Amino acid sequence: MTVRQKNRGAAAVLAGVGAYVPPKTVTNADLSAHLDTSPDWITSRTGIEERHVVSAGESSVDLAVEAGNRALKSAGTGTVDMVVLATTSPDRLCPAGAPEVAHRLGLGIVPAFDLTSACSGFLFGLATAQGLIASETAESVLLVGAEAFTTFVDPADRGTAVIFGDGAGAVVLRAGSTDEPGAIGPVSLGTDGSHADLLHIPSGGSRQRSATGLGHGLDVSSWYLQMAGRTLFQQAVARMTEASRSALEQAGWPVATVDRFVGHQANLRILTAVAKRLEIPAERLFVNIDRVGNTLAASIPLALTAAASGGELTSGDRVLLSAFGAGLSWGGTTLVWPDLVTDAPL
Ligand code: UT7
Repeated sequence: MTVRQKNRGAAAVLAGVGAYVPPKTVTNADLSAHLDTSPDWITSRTGIEERHVVSAGESSVDLAVEAGNRALKSAGTGTVDMVVLATTSPDRLCPAGAPEVAHRLGLGIVPAFDLTSACSGFLFGLATAQGLIASETAESVLLVGAEAFTTFVDPADRGTAVIFGDGAGAVVLRAGSTDEPGAIGPVSLGTDGSHADLLHIPSGGSRQRSATGLGHGLDVSSWYLQMAGRTLFQQAVARMTEASRSALEQAGWPVATVDRFVGHQANLRILTAVAKRLEIPAERLFVNIDRVGNTLAASIPLALTAAASGGELTSGDRVLLSAFGAGLSWGGTTLVWPDLVTDAPL
């Protein structure tokens, strides 16, 4: 009989990272060929040059499995105690995708569940994993942010079709101590449900099902994302700044000690506005929205993996994370980057 060595600790410590984007890319010129937009408008208003998108039949779970596999390799392990999948674009409304991710990764019958908090999903996932580890429910958690969200975006809506991309990022968290590199700091979270309609998909859930659905007077656009971009922009800047300040305060970190700010890649102008408000120099801001677009819950783990594999995040760096999204929801946290094995740059 094997006796498992317990390595209990209060903190969730980052032990591995991995990311995956589907091979198909869509450039701004591609979009401008069929939408009333231009490459210049997209680049200057969002910072996006191209995004990766799923092909027919490819799903969030498919992307999650690829990213999860890479994170497990990075952590040098083939087992975890739990799997959490943060996604806004589930393969199906029922069941959750996480058990399938666990199964396809060969993780067996571990507890696995989905978490929905749109672009803040990874931050809510970190807080969840922290709780699971601190309560000794799990010693290790695979947390994946995966999105095939372009399947929920109206390809004819220039206001949203130019922004989003598909991809997945994953981390392995293990039990450890709060003072070691990789320990996730206090996570500052918030929501404001009074603005739920600023970014939403009206149909497909219990409020508007088949009785009032398609073929019964409901317009097809209600099955796609609807977004009040300009108002969200202001909210994003305010809330990401607030979440960042709160996370720094809870960690006891002066802002000047932040080496890398890795924020949700919603819009380059949002990121630079937040960095400016926080007085974080522009060169400490990590940006990969130009290559991947807005990938919602996958955004931050994708950015972390890209930064680490590209040498823009190295062991000992003090990192600030911050996100904002539908809900409205937002979150921030801190960590000192640990010594990790990473894949070749994406
Ligand atoms: O992931 C977290 C949640 N999401 C966000 O945080 C998104 C936040 N919002 C944004 O990133 C920006 O608001 C957008 C990129 C969505 C839009 O940029 P904007 O600078 O806020 O543009 P706007 O909505 O104020 O629109 C300015 C103009 C409008 O034309 P008029 O009314 O001035 O004539 C739009 O119709 O730009 C027009 N427009 C476009 N023009 C060319 C909107 N989309 C496009 C487009 N191409 N794709």
